[in-house]
Amino acid sequence: MRPMQYDSSKLVIKGRGEPGFSYPIVWEDSFSALSDEIRKVLGSFSGKLCIMTDSHVSELYLQPVTEALKSSYTLTKPFIFPAGEKHKQLSVLQEFYQHLLCSEMDRKDVIVALGGGVTGDMAGFAAATYRRGIRFIQIPTTLLAQVDSSIGGKTAVDLGSFKNMIGAFHQPLLVYMNPLVLQTLSGEQFSSGMGEVIKTALIGDEQLYTYLKMNAEAICRGEASALRHIVRACCAVKAAVVEEDPLDQGIRAVLNFGHTIGHAVEAESRFSLPHGHCVAIGMAAALRLCEKRGFLKPEERNEAAGLISRFGLPTAAEEWVSQEKLLSLCMSDKKVEEGKLRFILLNKIGSAFIEPNLEKDELIEAIRSISAG
Ligand code: GLY
Repeated sequence: MRPMQYDSSKLVIKGRGEPGFSYPIVWEDSFSALSDEIRKVLGSFSGKLCIMTDSHVSELYLQPVTEALKSSYTLTKPFIFPAGEKHKQLSVLQEFYQHLLCSEMDRKDVIVALGGGVTGDMAGFAAATYRRGIRFIQIPTTLLAQVDSSIGGKTAVDLGSFKNMIGAFHQPLLVYMNPLVLQTLSGEQFSSGMGEVIKTALIGDEQLYTYLKMNAEAICRGEASALRHIVRACCAVKAAVVEEDPLDQGIRAVLNFGHTIGHAVEAESRFSLPHGHCVAIGMAAALRLCEKRGFLKPEERNEAAGLISRFGLPTAAEEWVSQEKLLSLCMSDKKVEEGKLRFILLNKIGSAFIEPNLEKDELIEAIRSISAG
């Protein structure tokens, strides 16, 4: 799979799985073009926009986004929920449905998701289901959301501790990104997003991988040109994958590189570790298997693991993470069918494939390689 071509300010996803379906991803250094970009996708629209955001992002960006929209659109009262994955639940969604109802949102109206992955997933699921489906716009504000979750139409809420159990595919009308908002992220949030950036480079863009090696300091300093570059390059890879397989029935699985063991570490930590950190540990384990199978030279694996560490990400699990527990979590993963474990490997840096039948011994070895002690 090849990253999609893009110009400096946008790329357009053409959903081949859904005839006639297409939406733009737009990158701008401020929110001032938001109104014009919405007009391009909505045309002469006289309905309402309802912004969903969380208590953290609302402090930072609700005001500039509202300013950018209010002279052109009717805005309802925004819906602000407490920040954090633990609020990605049906109870918050129910409050949001009530809010939409009280704001008299009807089928022609539009939800605007302003925030990270939790907000995008939850607002998208509300849009997929409220009045049997209304339109929505993504304005992702975290690195993880800009490079991954805002693109491709996966929407969901968690069911208790089961992540993304209740969900739907519902594509946004527009994804509007301002990469400069990434400069306000906490170190942990930024490095968590870098886990997905490194994953994207490893599975689909060798040039991006080289860029990450050469520009790690500029990226960590949050230099604007570096942020723009990594966001656009990752979007081009993600867009190519979801355009090919919008409903996750085949090649989209390559986006799960590092995620089988990563999800197990995440569950074992009871979600106390950030997602990208768990993916980083999972990638370190998967890289071992790639080396073992002869797809990567030892020095290539070392270099990739070193790159993960350079962005402040772990490459081994903490002592309290039990190897047996990780194994049983991996074997109960949805990627196991008839005892066969589907696993994503690299055949080289920048190219991934789906191994349909990973041997249990290989999995054990991979888990051992990232376990302390
Ligand atoms: N985040 C993985 C996917 O969109 O399929």
